Amino acid sequence: MGTKIIGTGSALPGLTIHNTKLEEIMDTSDEWIRSRTGIEERHIAVEETTTFLAVTAARKAMENAGVSGEEIDLIIVGTVSGDMCFPSTACQIQEAVSAVHATAFDINAACAGFLFGLSIVDAYFYAGRAKTALIIGAEVLSKMMDWADRSTCVLFGDGAGAAVVRKEEGGILSIVQGSDGGRGMALTCHNRPVNNPFVRADNTLDYTKMDGQAVFRFAVKTVPEAIRQALAKAGCEADEIKYFILHQANIRIIEAVAKKLGQPDEKFPTNLQKCGNISAASVPILLDHVNRAGMLEKGDKIVAAGFGAGLTWGAAVIVW
Ligand code: COA
Repeated sequence: MGTKIIGTGSALPGLTIHNTKLEEIMDTSDEWIRSRTGIEERHIAVEETTTFLAVTAARKAMENAGVSGEEIDLIIVGTVSGDMCFPSTACQIQEAVSAVHATAFDINAACAGFLFGLSIVDAYFYAGRAKTALIIGAEVLSKMMDWADRSTCVLFGDGAGAAVVRKEEGGILSIVQGSDGGRGMALTCHNRPVNNPFVRADNTLDYTKMDGQAVFRFAVKTVPEAIRQALAKAGCEADEIKYFILHQANIRIIEAVAKKLGQPDEKFPTNLQKCGNISAASVPILLDHVNRAGMLEKGDKIVAAGFGAGLTWGAAVIVW
């Protein structure tokens, strides 16, 4: 028995902010952002919350899969930007989709969140502890940006993507995942500081900070390695893969990965031009866009790969 994706869904906030709009509020340019990253615009939440986006994506994935809430026995949400510390985003989704029999929890693996979720679901299925799971990546990163820091805020966007996964023949052929906490300070955002009657705390909220070049180097080295490992584990050649669904951080990272794998850019669909980097939501949103565009047929082999803060990474070879 395998771990098969049987439905996908996604949700983006209504407001789109083009690079030229950012030119009006900070010292940047459309040309700089496009040439360094490929990003043209991103969706920014105004009324939408992380939970709202997650629930909308989850409902679409369930509809796409033809699965009711009662059938779902596991809900995992990858997020670094939940609306509440607790209850988890996953528990809020459980309530919204009436998944009364599910166990629900969030994980923090940043931009590798969907891949980590897939890996956990695969392990639950293997252990016989679940049969139908909902995996969601959901982020409102715009609230975690320092909008005075042009080197980070122009890169990110908001949205959610979801997949319904069932214990069925086929599906995941291999998954690899990894972490390197030793390089974690390359991409950070502190939670609230220790603050109680016994210690004075500066209650200023922290925002996302990034050593862009360190993250870039990490991505272009680690992602092709992880994909190669996943391919070897699956007994597949890169040439057999129809699409590589990569985390949408930067077009230059994606092109570098394609080059290292000796694969044409056309096999790497992108939506970062319109969405920016949406951390844990990037991979499932792109998967949903590719799925709904009718680009996937039963039996196609794809690779999904995520990477980001932690540092964390994951790659999977999947039969559609
Ligand atoms: N608009 C205009 N200029 C900007 C800018 C912006 N939005 N952001 C930074 N700059 C400036 C810098 O201040 C710097 O100016 P200086 O040379 O006068 O000091 C110059 O552009 C070059 O900055 P640098 O950081 O060296 O640019 P870069 O070529 O490394 O590109 C990134 C920066 C962030 C695009 C690139 O490092 C990157 O994509 N890294 C990976 C980040 C990522 O994907 N993170 C998420 C992973 S999950």
